[in-house]
Amino acid sequence: MKKAILGSLLLASVCLSNAQNTAILKIDSAKQVINKHIYGHFAEHLGRCIYDGFYVGDTSKIQNTAGVRNDIIDALKKLKIPNLRWPGGCFADTYHWKDGIGDKAKRPSIVNTNWGDVTEDNSFGTHDFLNMCKLLGCEPYLSGNVGSGTVQELADWVQYTNFDNVCPMSQLRKQNGQQQAWGVRYWGIGNEAWGCGGHMTPEHYSDLYRQYATFMNNSPKASLFKIASGASDNDYNWTEVLMKNIPKGMLGGVAMHHYSVIEWKKKGSATNFTEAQYFTTMKSAWLMDELVTKHSAIMDKYDPAKKVALVVDEWGGWYDGEPGSNPHFLYQQNTMRDALIAGMTLNIFNNHAERVRLANLAQCVNVLQAVILTNKEKMILTPTYHVMQLYSVHQNATMIPLDIKSNNYQYGAETLPAVSGSASKDSTGAIHISLTNIDTKVSQEIAIDLGGKVFSKSSAQIITSGKLQDYNSFETPDKIKPTPFTAFSIKQGSLIVKLPPFSVVVLEIK
Ligand code: AHR
Repeated sequence: MKKAILGSLLLASVCLSNAQNTAILKIDSAKQVINKHIYGHFAEHLGRCIYDGFYVGDTSKIQNTAGVRNDIIDALKKLKIPNLRWPGGCFADTYHWKDGIGDKAKRPSIVNTNWGDVTEDNSFGTHDFLNMCKLLGCEPYLSGNVGSGTVQELADWVQYTNFDNVCPMSQLRKQNGQQQAWGVRYWGIGNEAWGCGGHMTPEHYSDLYRQYATFMNNSPKASLFKIASGASDNDYNWTEVLMKNIPKGMLGGVAMHHYSVIEWKKKGSATNFTEAQYFTTMKSAWLMDELVTKHSAIMDKYDPAKKVALVVDEWGGWYDGEPGSNPHFLYQQNTMRDALIAGMTLNIFNNHAERVRLANLAQCVNVLQAVILTNKEKMILTPTYHVMQLYSVHQNATMIPLDIKSNNYQYGAETLPAVSGSASKDSTGAIHISLTNIDTKVSQEIAIDLGGKVFSKSSAQIITSGKLQDYNSFETPDKIKPTPFTAFSIKQGSLIVKLPPFSVVVLEIK
């Protein structure tokens, strides 16, 4: 008798774990545009991101334009990166921009105290970065120095980059060879002011923000979008104090940083990880949904019209540096685990498009969850690059609410939703649905109710691999890349998709 009950319980649990996931695509409720800027990137003076990454100098044997690698420019243009944040991170609050202009041979050096005490020669400065953004076709997002800078210094930087009329800083810019102002719209006022940016209280920082923001002037070239240094993870009090103390007219966005980390003191290898470590990383990646929801709810109290954006200007997976690399350089490989972090996180941002309007993956080249890795003349694209490229169809498209009832991915006694997704409609009327399955073993079939709409054309691409720990190396650069995907069909008004374990799929229906 006992055996029979146990048997039927087991059967029930097997059936449950294989039950179909369901979703409803609410096409008629689509109205919120997904701001393309949530697909932004981040380039800090850290390790080999700028020097020996983006920038090799104009005497390098590697093909370059004004010192910036051409292969990187081409790859990022294909990714349609909308914005690039620079020069930090923690570095930003040590950086004095006037040291990075004028004759390169005469520039003073700077010691990068946050990242390995490396001496930098300041050969990559404001002109180099802003002209690089022009080449990339993206908007620059400059992080101003509040921690060790001055109000005047930041006000001058704005004038130098944005003013065409006769004024001291436009004269100086012209002397340095740039006639026209670039017109920089996005400005961060400090970074992680609660930590490396000055260990401030939110009360003190809000006052400083008001002071700095007051002297950062608009110009005909750019109406400034000012971003307050935001909370770490679930520091909701930080957001509360900023929203309360800073007048809304002075605030374009409030930032928030969240990294998917196993444990800060024991991050583990980027490539050699167990399922337990994978599960913890995924739990941390899913936490983004709760963080964005709760920070948004606080912002709603002070800004119900949602004028102020939540800016997640640092996100991604963070592991131990690769063996043999300088641990301060944060150089890590990028596996299917990272592809899943990217797919899930971007789904979360898409679904919160009404409040999350700018975000930056940390970081772009050779640091943390990079989309590009370089080794001398070689360059590879990581699985995260390929996810960002597939998801670029959502940029500036109209978000379609996608209500998913997901099965659980179970590990030990804990569970997480196995499937995440988001959807949007682009200007041609094509609908894109992006889905992830984080389950390591179970394929997840999902039936998406199309709400009576009829579609005649469909196609899809998938990113997956033989092993979760697989990655693109300099020897096998194309091990993981998007391939055509056919395990889906439209039946009786539903789109049925069979997602293999640990996969990212993007479908197009029209
Ligand atoms: O992205 C690496 C570092 O992480 C940044 O410099 C800092 O802002 C954050 O703590």
